[in-house]
Amino acid sequence: MRIGILTSGGDCPGINATIRGVCKTAIHHYGMEVVGIHSGFQGLLTKDVELFTDKSLSGLLNLGGTVLGTSREKPFKKGGMTLDGVHKPTLIKQNMKELGLDCLVCIGGNGTQKTAAKFAAFGINVVSVPKTIDNDIWGTDISFGFDSAVSIATDAIDRLHSTASSHKRVMVIEVMGHKAGWIALYSGMAGGGDIILLPEIPYDINNVCETIHQRALRGKSYTIVVVAEGIRTDGVKRPAAYIADEIERMTGIETRETVLGYIQRGGSPTPFDRNLSTRMGGHATELIAEGCFGRMIALTGNEISSVPLEEVAGKLNLVTESHDLVVQGRRMGICFG
Ligand code: F6P
Repeated sequence: MRIGILTSGGDCPGINATIRGVCKTAIHHYGMEVVGIHSGFQGLLTKDVELFTDKSLSGLLNLGGTVLGTSREKPFKKGGMTLDGVHKPTLIKQNMKELGLDCLVCIGGNGTQKTAAKFAAFGINVVSVPKTIDNDIWGTDISFGFDSAVSIATDAIDRLHSTASSHKRVMVIEVMGHKAGWIALYSGMAGGGDIILLPEIPYDINNVCETIHQRALRGKSYTIVVVAEGIRTDGVKRPAAYIADEIERMTGIETRETVLGYIQRGGSPTPFDRNLSTRMGGHATELIAEGCFGRMIALTGNEISSVPLEEVAGKLNLVTESHDLVVQGRRMGICFG
C-alpha cells in the first residue's frame, strides 16, 4: 500500500506530529510506503512529492508548522477547471495513478474536509485528519492545534494583567478563531479575563462599559477584555481596536489593544497536541489498513473514532450559551457581552 499525505489550509502546531504518527505507523507496523505531497492539493496537480523515510521523520514531533508546506488550493472550486480547460480533480486522479498512490491522507480544516469529501465522492480513497487552531470542525470534540493556540493566548493574557494593573488601564486582546469563539472562551477563562466577547453570543457595548464602570466602583483598578476576531464590529476597524476605542470613548478610562495574530499558530505543539496528533495520525493509518475510506478521524470523549466525511462537510462546531465554561463564567460575574 502506498499512501499520499498532504497538509492544507492554515498551519498550526501539531501538523508535523500528525505526519509522524501516520508515517511511523505505516512504515513500522504495516510495512507501507508514504509519499509526502508538497503545498497541499497544489502538489497533487504538479506531482511535487517526496518519499518519507525513517530519517526524514526525525525531529517532527515537536516541530511547528508543516514540513510539507501548505496552500489554500481548492481543486473543485469553480467547477474544478483550470484556465486552459483542464479538470483539476481528473488531473489529480491521473497523477495519483502515475505516482502509484493507493489512497490519500488529508490533514486540514473545514475547507480541506469539504475537498476531501468531494474526492471521496469522486472515487479517491481518502482519510482525513481534523486540523485547526479554531476548533470549529464539526464531528470531533477537539482538533489538534487548538490546545497550543489556547496555551499561547493564555500566556499573552497572563502578561497583560501586570501592565494593566501598573497603568490602571483596560486592556483589550483580540485572538483568532475565524467564526468561532473557542480560543477566546478557553484562553479568556484560563487567563482570568473579566469580559469575553464571542461571535456566538451577541454583545451590547453599553453592557461592556457598565461592567467596567461597576468594577471601578468596586475598586478594581483594571479590566481585561478578550475578544474573538469574529465578533460583530463596525466592519472597518479590527475588533480589538473597535472595542478599545468604544470603551475609552464611553468610559474615559485609558484603554489599549493587542492583536495576537499569527503568534497563535507558531512554535512547538503542547504535549496534549503532540499526543492527540500522534493518536489521530496512527488511527488514520489503521483505517487505511482496514480499507475504510471516506472518513475523518475524530476525538469523542477520550476515544479516537471516525465519522463519515459527508456528515462533516459544510458544518461548524460553535460555542453554545450552555457550554459549561460560559455557564460557570457567568455565575462568577464574567461578562459575555
Ligand atoms: O483557520 C486558522 C486561522 O488562523 C484563523 O483563525 C484565521 O482567521 C485564519 O486562519 C487566517 O487565515 P490566513 O492564514 O489565510 O491569513
